[in-house]
Amino acid sequence: MASDKVSIHGAWASRWVFILAATGSAVGLGNIWKFPYMTGVYGGGAFVVMYLFCIALVGVPIMLAETLIGRRGRQSPVNAMKSLAIEAGASKHWSLAALMGMVAALLILSFYSVVAGWSLDYIIGMGRGDFTGISADGAGAAFGGLTSDPWRLTLWHSLFMLVTAFVIAKGVVAGLERSLRIMMPLLFVLLLVLLGYSFTTGHFREGFDFLFHFDPSKVQDGILAAMGHAFFTLSVGVGSIMVYGAYMPKKASIGATVLTVGLLDTLVALTAGLALFPIVFAAGLEPGGGPGLMFVTLPIAFGNIAFGQVMGLIFFVLVAVAAWSSSISMLEPAVAYFVEKTGRSRAQVTAALALLCWLVGMGTVLSFNLWAEAKFFVFAEDGFHLLQWGAEGGKTFFDSIDYLTSRILLPLGGLSFAMFAGWVLSRDAVREELSIRSPLLFNLALWLIRVVAPIGVLIVFIAELSK
Ligand code: TRP
Repeated sequence: MASDKVSIHGAWASRWVFILAATGSAVGLGNIWKFPYMTGVYGGGAFVVMYLFCIALVGVPIMLAETLIGRRGRQSPVNAMKSLAIEAGASKHWSLAALMGMVAALLILSFYSVVAGWSLDYIIGMGRGDFTGISADGAGAAFGGLTSDPWRLTLWHSLFMLVTAFVIAKGVVAGLERSLRIMMPLLFVLLLVLLGYSFTTGHFREGFDFLFHFDPSKVQDGILAAMGHAFFTLSVGVGSIMVYGAYMPKKASIGATVLTVGLLDTLVALTAGLALFPIVFAAGLEPGGGPGLMFVTLPIAFGNIAFGQVMGLIFFVLVAVAAWSSSISMLEPAVAYFVEKTGRSRAQVTAALALLCWLVGMGTVLSFNLWAEAKFFVFAEDGFHLLQWGAEGGKTFFDSIDYLTSRILLPLGGLSFAMFAGWVLSRDAVREELSIRSPLLFNLALWLIRVVAPIGVLIVFIAELSK
């Protein structure tokens, strides 16, 4: 049976290590940085509700699909899909979906590393006491000072990429487990401490309402964003979870495991939102402030509470670790693939790919300063411009890559993975991998993978196109 195979890249010691690694991948900047700022930009509760629906009906089913494809294939996503497709008598071109995912993951890593670099800078800032007693304006200026300095950004971006490459070169299985066992619980505890602080701001109610008040008029705006973010935060749609599935022990139950990861990820995002927004309102800041939100509001909190300096320091260390365990999972599908394809060592393949991502990431570094006026995909009155300097509309390099990956590549990848698991693999293969005993639950899972998740992705795409 295919599932007796073991991957050449290693295997997790138990299902708990898979949970740890997958949660490490899922919990990252997406939860602590992106989720709150997107909720702010897209108007609060309506976004949150759509996001939760997308997680439950689309994200988790696709995570199931990815994990089971990975474990059955026991190779890099591209080769796993290729061999499973051939085995099932389908076209080997299904593996193109995994190839696209691989590229998407590298693109995400390119900007992810830059933002993770911000948290490295904040570790130093916190340690030096730069934020002690800081005002909202001061925190805004500090963040602006960082993003407008290309050298400082490049330094941290390079350092973060190096650290990521280091673990990948050693092998994920060996490199991740020990650190995550301590870091993940600690991150959660610190988020709870922050939540405690936000209770004391006197604006908790306001933050809570912002996060959970459902305003139907805002649904149209944010639905594709919510879908894209559901993919991003769960790390699905590119093969990250698939490659981790390939290292999963045969006996572990995929259903319960994936549900655990989905729940933990959602819990962290909601806690981060609940902790942040009361602070945003207490400081009189705009919730729709965009990517700088976390880097402006949290320093205000840490700058003004007892032991804030130490807590702030620990917090940004943990954010960096959470980002690091995520970035590893973005590089792994491509590294596994090129090791299989070229037979070169992990170290060589990793070095080449990390360098490539680093280069693309330089575009993001510059999009915050020297290239801030370089706008891509401009739809102007005189027609479409791929790149126009100083245009009104359009997207910066960073926005373009973020948009291309989250809004287009991740949903398309996820759609293909669900279709593949649901319709190409045999029902028995899926049953064997999921090992869900109750026939009712199994049919529910299969129905979510086959019908609900694909239709969900399509509906959102069509709704967006017809806007
Ligand atoms: N899920 C991570 C976060 O929320 C980011 C991440 C890791 C990711 N691997 C991924 C996003 C693969 C998309 C695809 O920060």
